[in-house]
Amino acid sequence: GTTILSGIQPTGVPHLGNYYGALDNWVKLQRTRRNTTIFYSIVDLHALTIPQDPKVLRQSKRDMAIALMACGVDVKQSVLFEQSRVPQHAELCWILNCITPVGWLSRMTQWKSKISSSNRDAAKHSDAITIAASTEGLRMGLFAYPVLQAADILIYQADEVPIGEDQVQHLELAREIASTFNKTVGEEIFPLPKSIIPQSTKRIMSLREPTSKMSKSDDNDMSRINLSDTPEQIKAKIARATTDSERSISYDPSSRPGVSNLLAIYAACKNILVEDAVKSFTNVSGHKQFKEDLADAIIQVLGPIQSEMNRLHNESGYVDSVLEKGAVKARNRAAETLDRVYHAVGLR
Ligand code: TYM
Repeated sequence: GTTILSGIQPTGVPHLGNYYGALDNWVKLQRTRRNTTIFYSIVDLHALTIPQDPKVLRQSKRDMAIALMACGVDVKQSVLFEQSRVPQHAELCWILNCITPVGWLSRMTQWKSKISSSNRDAAKHSDAITIAASTEGLRMGLFAYPVLQAADILIYQADEVPIGEDQVQHLELAREIASTFNKTVGEEIFPLPKSIIPQSTKRIMSLREPTSKMSKSDDNDMSRINLSDTPEQIKAKIARATTDSERSISYDPSSRPGVSNLLAIYAACKNILVEDAVKSFTNVSGHKQFKEDLADAIIQVLGPIQSEMNRLHNESGYVDSVLEKGAVKARNRAAETLDRVYHAVGLR
C-alpha cells in the first residue's frame, strides 16, 4: 500500500492559507485513496524552534487537534497524532543529521530569511560585529528544522506529502536526504516522497500585502482569515483587503496579485474553477459587490467547521483519547522503520 504523511505546526487555529494550501487536500485524500495509510501530525517539536510559553503551547496543540478534526480529518481513516509522542522522529532526525551536509541547510530559503531578519535587527542596533557574525545567535534547532521534517516523512516511509508551495523546498531536501541515506547503506529503505500541491491555492497571499504569503507570523491579524473568525471579522478583513484601482475583476496574479488572490479564495470556497469565478463577476464594476460575495462564501465554508470546533471543545476526554490512540499507531509504524534504519547503520 501507499503511505501519506503531512504535518502542521501547533499555531492554535489554522488560517485560510493552511486550509486551502493543505488541509483541504488532507481531507479529500481520505475519500479518494484506497489501500493507503494516512498520518497527520501536529508538529510540536518544530514549534520549539521559536520561543514558546509552555501553557500557551499546550493549549495551541489542543486547539489545533480540534481544528483539524473540525475541518474533516477523520480519525477512523487517518492517524492523527502529536509528533513529540513518537520519539522515533527525533531519533531518526539524529541519524539524518549525521549524513546531511551543512551546505544543503544553509541554502534553505526559510533559513536565509531568518539570517536576513536577524541582520536587520542587528543593523537597527548598528552593531557591525553582530552583522558580520549573522548566524552566531541563531539556534541549531532552527537550522536543523528541515532535517526533522525529513524525519517526520521518512519515519513512516511515506510516498506522498500534501503541502502548500512554501514547503516544496523542504520536501525536495527530504528526497535528497532519503536518496543519500539509501545510497550510504546500499538499501532502498526510504521511498522518495512526492508532494501533492493544489492548483490555484498553493500559495494564498496576505490580505494586506498580496505579494507575501498569508502567514501566522504576520503581526497584523487583518492580513489573514483564521478559521475561528466571526462573520463580522471576515467581512471587515475582506472589505479592507488590498486590491488595485482597476474596476473590473480579472485573474492575473503577477499584475493584479490582490484581486487574483481573492478570486482564488472565492473559487476554492465555491469549489469552482478560477475562470468560472471570473465569469460570474464580468458584469460587476468596482470591488464592493465582489468582496461582499467573497466574504459570504468564506462565512458559508467556515460555519460548519466552527460549530464542530465548538462541539469538540466540550469533548476534551474524546480529544485526549483520539491523540492517545493516534500516538500508539504512529509509534508502532515508526518503530519498525527505526529498527531497519538502526540495523542498516550498524547500531543493531
Ligand atoms: P505550517 O504549519 O506552516 O503550514 C501547514 C500547511 O499549510 C501550508 N500553508 C500554506 N499554503 C498555501 N498558502 C499559504 N499562505 C500557506 N501557509 C501555510 C503549508 O505549506 C503546510 O502544508 N514545516 C511545516 C510543517 C511540517 C511538515 C512536516 C509538513 C513539519 N513536518 C512533514 C509536511 C510534512 C510547516 O511549518 O507548515
